[in-house]
Amino acid sequence: MENFYITTAIDYVNGAPHIGHAYEKIYTDILFRHFKKRKNDGSCFFLTGCDEHGIKIQKTAKAAGISPKELCDKNAAQFIEAWKLLDIEYSKFIRTTDDYHKKIVQDIFEKLLKQGDIYKHSYTGLYCAGCETFLNPKDLDENGNCPIHGKKPETVSEENYFFKLTKYKNRIIEHIKNNPDFILPEFRANEVLNQLENIEDISVSRAKSSVEWGIEVKSDKSQVIYVWIDALSNYITALGYDVDGNCDENFKKFWPANFHIIGKDILKFHSIYWIAILMALDIELPKSIYAHGWITIDQNKMSKSTGNVIAPKTIIDEYELKNPDALRYFMATTASNGKDGNYSDVDFKEKVNADLANNMGNLLNRTLNMLVKYFDGEIKEEFISDNELNKKAENVLNQVIEYFDKCDISSSANAIISLVDEANKYINDTAPWTLAKEEKMIECGKVLYNVLNLMVKIALMIEPYCPNIAKSMANQLKFDISLKYSKIQPNMIKSGKLISKEEISPVFLRLDSDFATNKKTV
Ligand code: MSP
Repeated sequence: MENFYITTAIDYVNGAPHIGHAYEKIYTDILFRHFKKRKNDGSCFFLTGCDEHGIKIQKTAKAAGISPKELCDKNAAQFIEAWKLLDIEYSKFIRTTDDYHKKIVQDIFEKLLKQGDIYKHSYTGLYCAGCETFLNPKDLDENGNCPIHGKKPETVSEENYFFKLTKYKNRIIEHIKNNPDFILPEFRANEVLNQLENIEDISVSRAKSSVEWGIEVKSDKSQVIYVWIDALSNYITALGYDVDGNCDENFKKFWPANFHIIGKDILKFHSIYWIAILMALDIELPKSIYAHGWITIDQNKMSKSTGNVIAPKTIIDEYELKNPDALRYFMATTASNGKDGNYSDVDFKEKVNADLANNMGNLLNRTLNMLVKYFDGEIKEEFISDNELNKKAENVLNQVIEYFDKCDISSSANAIISLVDEANKYINDTAPWTLAKEEKMIECGKVLYNVLNLMVKIALMIEPYCPNIAKSMANQLKFDISLKYSKIQPNMIKSGKLISKEEISPVFLRLDSDFATNKKTV
């Protein structure tokens, strides 16, 4: 029996959630729902949460005139609310200010200190609060700024604790080279191997005199633990890891993670720092780390100073969406595997109207209406036979599975929609309305059956992306949407009365809104 464990990055709570954060949570939720459908036994666990310590949060709270904890409570609540709105089905939400987390992080630090992986060292470096990391002078841009945040890093001279990252360098290189699925998409692996060439030991604590808001080093109250060590540990503290080996059931059940889903900007922390820590703790390594690209808005980087940061709720409200499916679907398809993607109102409307309303929704609606019109909503035994669409559906399901194994959810969505295209072509080519006019009723019924039967499989495949639309399809096609993929057979619909006129309703209505012209931002 194999269990499944997937995680997202945990978001800094110095601001409200935006659609970049939402992209990752939707991405992970789609993977989670898909893998649940594939598993016939074992359990699945999905972890997300908030990263609540560090200088960035300390400074934001100070500027707002509130305590860091008040800021964290206020903003963490907003993240929780946003994920609810987007139907993110996480199993656990961790906050790094949770007491159990803080205790385990302190224990991890002490263990590494005791075994000599952490040592004390005087240091002068350039610290970027945005990245929460020391930068190498050669990483700065031509103006001496952090290339991600465009700000000058602060020169910090402190006596800190350091972690012996260099000790693990060769083992990490070997692991990446021997495990082609360890870093996904594959094209990111080289990037990490290049970064590994120049790594040095890293500072893993800050003097309390400069950063107060962090987990205290247990054996040295003058220091707090570096926020990235604190944050990365969430993947095991949430499962009840214990340094002395008395780990909770969940740790035994779910570790190692199948997938850590993160943004490309924090790949180094996950594929180098986190892996070295796990090696030092002698814990199994995660199976894969998937780095997604970044979401821009109208081709611009989202930033508070530009004023173009959009909250997921703003889109849901402006379009008066009854559920988040359209946004989930758009987010899943706007970027190709691991590359950057873009949100624009025009593209959003165009994409969901084309794929969900015109293509998939209309096909179901008109086929059901014909079944009612010609056969009073009944599937007759003679309509059921093997047909070319069954083979196509089987091929597409296999493709979908292959794409998901590599976390490539956009290619998978394209494959599903191409199957809908096939079905539209099939119905137009076979023209059941003409067959009915010519009184070739069995042939007509066969065509309708073939399309409706295919729609069952499409609903099951699209469910991870659009759970509400899929549910509505299942209600009209009378099957259980929680069905596992292993239960898919060639003919899913049985003979008998399927539907009456009153039960038919469009699964997705076209979006018509002028949001594009009077956009609101947060
Ligand atoms: N707190 C760290 C992660 C610690 S994980 C142990 C952090 N937080 S963050 O709030 O800055 O980012 C959280 C996640 O959101 C990251 O994976 C990041 O890449 C992602 N994104 C933030 N802005 C984004 C976009 N505009 N587009 C897509 N994802 C982006 O990093």
